[in-house]
Amino acid sequence: MATLETLVSLAKRRGFVYPSSEIYGGLANVYDYGPLGVELLRNIRDLWWKEYVTKRHNIVGLESAIFMHPNVWKASGHVAGFSDPMIDDAENHKRYRADHVIADWCKENNKEVPDTDNMILEMLDEFITSNHIISTDGNAFNHARNFNLMFKTKLGSVENDAEELYLRAETAQGMYVDFKNILDSTRLQVPFGVAQQGRVFRNEITKGKFIFRMLEFQQMEIQYFFNGKEWEKMFEQWRQEQENWYQNILKINKSKLKWKPHAKLIFYAKAAEDLTYQFPWGADEVTGLHYRTDYDLSTHAKHSAKKLEYRDPFTGEVYVPHVLETTWGLDRNFFMLLDNAYFEEEGRVVLKLPFNLAPYKVAVFPLVSNKEELVKKANGVYEQIGKNYMTYWDDRGNIGKRYRYQDEVGTPLCVTIDYQTLTDDTVTVRSRDTMAQERVAITNLTSYIMAHE
Ligand code: GAP
Repeated sequence: MATLETLVSLAKRRGFVYPSSEIYGGLANVYDYGPLGVELLRNIRDLWWKEYVTKRHNIVGLESAIFMHPNVWKASGHVAGFSDPMIDDAENHKRYRADHVIADWCKENNKEVPDTDNMILEMLDEFITSNHIISTDGNAFNHARNFNLMFKTKLGSVENDAEELYLRAETAQGMYVDFKNILDSTRLQVPFGVAQQGRVFRNEITKGKFIFRMLEFQQMEIQYFFNGKEWEKMFEQWRQEQENWYQNILKINKSKLKWKPHAKLIFYAKAAEDLTYQFPWGADEVTGLHYRTDYDLSTHAKHSAKKLEYRDPFTGEVYVPHVLETTWGLDRNFFMLLDNAYFEEEGRVVLKLPFNLAPYKVAVFPLVSNKEELVKKANGVYEQIGKNYMTYWDDRGNIGKRYRYQDEVGTPLCVTIDYQTLTDDTVTVRSRDTMAQERVAITNLTSYIMAHE
């Protein structure tokens, strides 16, 4: 199993993920996806879209704006309640999440972690002071406070008149506030889903854990609108969908996945569970599943004074649809895939990513770079494969080193053009997973690759 440090190092070394603005010292909890990373990220995103939008007749897509009317966030409850309990070091004012400080202290001291979700600020303070918990710099803490996670910005050029806006903290709200437009402009009937992928922003206090917790990240969410009847069945159906995504589509090791029901439900929700993955530090959330009743449409109807209802064309019943929400963290899916695919074996590091997700599917090598005939032939092969597959070209160094590089970035097949190719038009194809090599005719190469998809 890979450590966090190993994955962070591989990600940077091979161009998956870089610390943001590193030449200026970086910015905590902000990362950039490099040339390999964007391919993997895009492959996950495209696969998700294909699975949940392209293949489904009753799920449609949406791309709502990052900026929304500020009342959206008041109506949703984010302005009043989207916060984490924060404490700061009384000396140097470094910020910590009070619940995380308590959980870490309990783990270090082999104590049972209390249910911090159900502790008010005074109870968190009491736990910290009575157990003499101090900051990592050895100082006492100030009192716990609620810290809102929404990033604020201002609209307009004159500072004083400027209206305060928020960077969206989830993609979900766009799907609720556009509900009526979607209903009026399509021929959809309840039940139907709206899917959205996009960037969201949260002013997270906790630092570390690489791309697991960032200030800016991407969500892929589906809000499934239904009549609220038999919600348990609907919940179970989407539970299965999630399991299918991770186990059968992303091919994640089943033993590393575990459902975790929320310890405390928000007042309007009837059920909420997270699917966790065994990250290097322990099981942590990658996906959420929530049955939110009719709260979302009702609250926006109330605050906007617009009707957000549905009239059943068969029964004539008019009601506010309920929402079953499934929410995936794209970056956490990415991180999980890296971890799940990482192996050290037979003196090599290899990323056994599924073919359809691997950044490059094939690498093409001319055996040497100073033989014009070989390079020309290899170029022809590169162009042939490159029409259909993301293909890597490498003519530097010895073949062994080129294989090692491709193993580390997860390329399933390597094709070498050698002197024999010039006589019989065959190439050597080497498998990432088995390291076996086969001689394949150039004319059969595309079908050979297809058979490995
Ligand atoms: N609309 C529901 C919602 O936003 P959430 O559990 O707050 O639910 C959904 O977030 C998903 O977004 C999580 O399951 C997680 O994968 C991802 N996520 C949340 N906070 C994140 C962060 N700071 N960095 C990266 N991913 C995050």
